[in-house]
Amino acid sequence: MAQKIMKNTLSHLKSEIALLNRKNLLRKLVPVEGAASTTLQRDGKELLLFCSNNYLGLANHPEVKATAIAAIQSEGVGAGASRLISGNSFLYQKLERQLAFFKSTESALVFNSGYMANLSGICALAGKGDLILADRLNHASLVDGCRLSGATFRIYRHKDMAQLKKLLTRRRTDQKTLIVTDGIFSMEGDIAPLSELSALAEEYDALIYLDDAHATGVLGPEGRGTCAHFNLSNPRIIQMGTLSKALGGLGGFIAGSDLLVRYLLNKARPFIYTTALPPSILATALIALEWACKGDDLRKQLWKNTDYFRREAVRLGFDVSPSETPIVPLRIGASDKAILFSEKLMAEGIYVPAVRPPTVPAGTSRLRISLMAVHTKEQINHLLLSLKKVGRELRLI
Ligand SMILES: Cc1ncc(COP(=O)(O)O)c(C=O)c1O
Repeated sequence: MAQKIMKNTLSHLKSEIALLNRKNLLRKLVPVEGAASTTLQRDGKELLLFCSNNYLGLANHPEVKATAIAAIQSEGVGAGASRLISGNSFLYQKLERQLAFFKSTESALVFNSGYMANLSGICALAGKGDLILADRLNHASLVDGCRLSGATFRIYRHKDMAQLKKLLTRRRTDQKTLIVTDGIFSMEGDIAPLSELSALAEEYDALIYLDDAHATGVLGPEGRGTCAHFNLSNPRIIQMGTLSKALGGLGGFIAGSDLLVRYLLNKARPFIYTTALPPSILATALIALEWACKGDDLRKQLWKNTDYFRREAVRLGFDVSPSETPIVPLRIGASDKAILFSEKLMAEGIYVPAVRPPTVPAGTSRLRISLMAVHTKEQINHLLLSLKKVGRELRLI
């Protein structure tokens, strides 16, 4: 009997893998070296990197690196236990105070990743009997948080405020409601209509869970994110962010009221049952946050690179809509064609893997180009020339 179950399980795994392969949706890990910079090595070949979220180049910033090394020397490499046991390094308090200040909130709580922050935050704010209304193109970690929460989960068309309003009108009036959205959508590069969302939340007495993973350090004055970009201050908006993208390191956070933070640290299982972050990661986040705030020059360069690339890509005949940010998707459609595009770019010295379902909706496989402040004009020109050559070969332009 046990033998038969084992055999059936293995044959199920094999047939699932074969199916993914047939559909051009099989994922594989590719070993690379040096990905914190604008170039990386793959199979001994140097490639230009245009798919990193290290928007400000802080993952490789000399002062940030030196801070991490010094923290390792004084504090060691690991936390040794969860935060509620003995892993709560004094650096957490400092970092959480700075993050709360950065987001203009009472408090903040750091998680080991943005993914864990989203599972925790959404499950804390919505549960059985409650209603979650979520944008169709939200990041997978938000979708997982919504599913895990046990709340009724409805999806509105991407940025469709009329449909959202309809869903709000139809709900039970006593139903606790959470609207969940990315700030910058990670695969489209467009920005959520936060002013309209905020007004709807006000009108219908809802809360908003805002995932600012890609907006932190990038959008708004001092890179303070989507609320700051729209000059919004609404206590109904719970702001989540990551330390892993523009801040160059690892981790996530939720900024909100003291009450929310106290609740999360008592109830959020992804927070409670995991070893705390290494002190060097916290020290790095502190210095990176300081650089992100004072890094107007870096941010200006990031937006200059973005505007230049987008303008020239359009001139070549690519449709880069709806991107408004350093995330610029080139939509291809079929997964096999997107893979071919990526492989041909690799031959030209450019590294941008194809993004396929389920990360993006079926039929919208794409190359997700992302710009960094530290890309040079020569590097961007090399990308544009390669896109022109491969785009013409594949009859995309
Ligand atoms: C919009 C969005 N939210 C959350 C996450 C998860 O963040 P982290 O990588 O820190 O776990 C990501 C990561 O890709 C993301 O793009």
